[in-house]
Order: sequence, then C-alpha cells, then structure tokens
Amino acid sequence: MITEKLARIRAEMPVTENAAYLNTGTSGPLSKQTIAILTEENTRELMNGRADMKSYVRLSTAKAGLRQAFADLTGATPAEIALTHHTTEGMNIVSHGLNFQPGDEIITTTLEHEGGLLPLYVLKQRRGVTVKTVDLMNVADDAEIVRRLEAAISPRTRLLVFSHVAWNTGQRLPLAEISAMARRHQVLTLVDAAQSVGAIPLDLPASGVDFYAMPGQKWLCGIEGTGALYIRRERLGMLSPTFIGYASLEDSSMFDYDGAFMLAAGARRFEVGTVDRPGIHAMLANMRWLADEIGWEWIFERIAATATMTFNALNSLSGVTVITPQAGQSGLITFNLDGYDPARVVTKLVRQNIIIRFLPYPYALRVSTGFYNTESDIDRLLGALEDVLSHSPDDLPEFIPPR
Ligand SMILES: Cc1ncc(COP(=O)(O)O)c(C=O)c1O
Repeated sequence: MITEKLARIRAEMPVTENAAYLNTGTSGPLSKQTIAILTEENTRELMNGRADMKSYVRLSTAKAGLRQAFADLTGATPAEIALTHHTTEGMNIVSHGLNFQPGDEIITTTLEHEGGLLPLYVLKQRRGVTVKTVDLMNVADDAEIVRRLEAAISPRTRLLVFSHVAWNTGQRLPLAEISAMARRHQVLTLVDAAQSVGAIPLDLPASGVDFYAMPGQKWLCGIEGTGALYIRRERLGMLSPTFIGYASLEDSSMFDYDGAFMLAAGARRFEVGTVDRPGIHAMLANMRWLADEIGWEWIFERIAATATMTFNALNSLSGVTVITPQAGQSGLITFNLDGYDPARVVTKLVRQNIIIRFLPYPYALRVSTGFYNTESDIDRLLGALEDVLSHSPDDLPEFIPPR
C-alpha cells in the first residue's frame, strides 16, 4: 500500500515513478529540490558572478551546516567530520595519512571494494607494508568474522580496513565487535561506509570505529562529488595531510613564508581547496529534507522492511540462489538466476525499466531497496525475473559492455 507520505516522496523523486528503481547501491534517486537548488545556485552565479564576499560567507555557513548534518546522522561532533568528494577520498586520506613503516601490516577482507583496497596496494608498493586479506566470503556468523580477523593480527598489524556493509553480498559486519577487538590489539579501524551511511542507523562514537568514509551519492541520495570522513577526535593527531591547501587551515591567512602554517583544529583540515558551491548548497538541503521531513528512523525501518520483503520473495522463487546471508541487514540483496548470465538479465530488465545491476565478484545480480520503493516495484522485479526463468537462457539479449 502506498501511504500519503510515500506518495509525496515518490512525487519528489521522479525516477521512482518512471522506473522500478532498485540501484541505490550505485546512485540514489535525486529529488526535485536538489535539482532546483543546483539550478538556482548556478543561475545566481551566472547572473551575479561567483566571487563576491556574500557568496563566500554563504558557502562557509553551508559547509558548516553539512558537517553538522553528517555529525547528526552519525552521532559524531562536527569537528570530527571532513567534507570529501566520495568514499574513496576518505579511504585515501586515512590510508596515506598514517605513518606506516616497512614491514607494518594492514588487514583487510575479501568483501572490499577497490575504493578501499587500491590505496592499500599503493602503500604496499610505496611503503613496503604487508596487506593481509582475510576471506569472509560466505561467513555469516558475526563471532566467526571477528575470530578470523583477530587470528590474522600480529604484533606488526597497525590497521584493519573493512566495509560496514559489503557491497558484494549486502552483509552487515559487526562494527562494534570488530572495533573493540581491534582496539584490544592497538590496531586502528578504517571503515568503508559506502553501503551503510543513510541505509542503517549509526552511532560512530559508540561503535568504537576510528575512521569512517562516507559517500553522498548512494543511500543519502545526493549528487556526485559529495561525501564525508569521520575521524574520531583522539585519532586526529595521528593523521598527516597528504593533500593540503587553504581550506585545510584554521584561517586561510594562517601561514607564513618561512614554512609555518596552522591546520584547522578539527577534521576539516583534510578539506583542501575550492568546492562545487551549488553542490554543497544542494546537498545540505537534501540532508535536511531526509532528516527533518522524512525522518531517519522511518527511512531505516523502510529500507530494512523492503529489503526483507525482497529477500524472502527471491528465496521463495525456484531457480533463484540468494547469496546475501541474512534478510534486512542492509538495503542490498545479491542473488543469481541459476544458469542465466547476470549481465544479460540486467540488459533485459533495463529494457523494462527495472533498474538493477550485476556485480563482477561474485558474478551475480544485486538489487538495492530504498525507502521510496513500494511492494509494486518489488512485484515488478519478481514478475520480470519469473518471466526470464520461464524462457531459455539463450533468449536473453546480448550484453554490450559500455566502452
Ligand atoms: C563498498 C564501496 N566502496 C566504495 C565505493 C566507491 O564509492 P565512491 O565513488 O563514493 O568512492 C563503492 C561504490 O561504488 C562501494 O560500494
């Protein structure tokens, strides 16, 4: 049933009415308000110019508001939030900001996205660190996850890098338990939050995590080029800036020509230079809309409910193998139609305006269920999958990879 609230949300996010949009794990649906603000701000810059004092003050207020919005969502303080451009930037800031020595170890898992992994591979090449990868694929039990990670720790281990929600299986990892275990061994934790922020409730200070890298464009339904990095207050001094610029300083005049400079007191020191002003204004309004008008609690409950519904429905279809270990842990459900090529299934569904994606590893289909999805979106998906299953795998259209 579509409630009045849901109908209002769907009218505000037109793609949800034009398609069965089930791909928020890649990019969330945009709102009309976001586009209106981008247009308004770009028009203002076009007509009035871009560099007057008033727009500078407005921008700095909006950036502070956006740090506050990320802090409110995660239980952090604004001083623990740096604005970034995507998850991967946050993963790089921390990976390259810690002072690794040759022979130091970093532990990561087989559930990671390249956004978190590649910075570690560069550290391996550049600083001679050892990267150990723990196999967590098909490990559903939280205690076993913690046990395997702990077993990999040695006296040389400095950092544990993992996703809160795995992009490939949708599994939620036990953040607080892993962080507590790592802390017992004096190992820092860096978490890829691409599939968790905006999808599940967070209290980062209570979780014990040290660093948490978040995107704006996925479950927060913001534009590309937005994101934030949480840096636990006590860990700020451990990170050196790899990139630095006027935005990193307490005040942009706080440097001299003898090599002295004063970094901003909080995590904002990892912000570097000029940003997309219209994007910041639009993202701030978007975060306020989600928090104040829709409500995070409602959002998290709906994502869990639509994900559970989809998980159960897929599990009940014969010819479907669900890879996601448990229902409702995140908004992602990964599965396969036995004997059917995932890329070709996606190609067929896109032609019916049902937007899902396939993953490279495991080679499988992935559905994202958002707070704006309805039972009828899920029914459309299931109907289309049943239709695929009632035909030969050879009847599927060819997949032509984008170049
Ligand atoms: C788990 C995970 N990490 C990192 C990324 C990369 O995200 P971003 O483009 O925000 O850096 C993605 C998404 O594509 C992801 O799913």
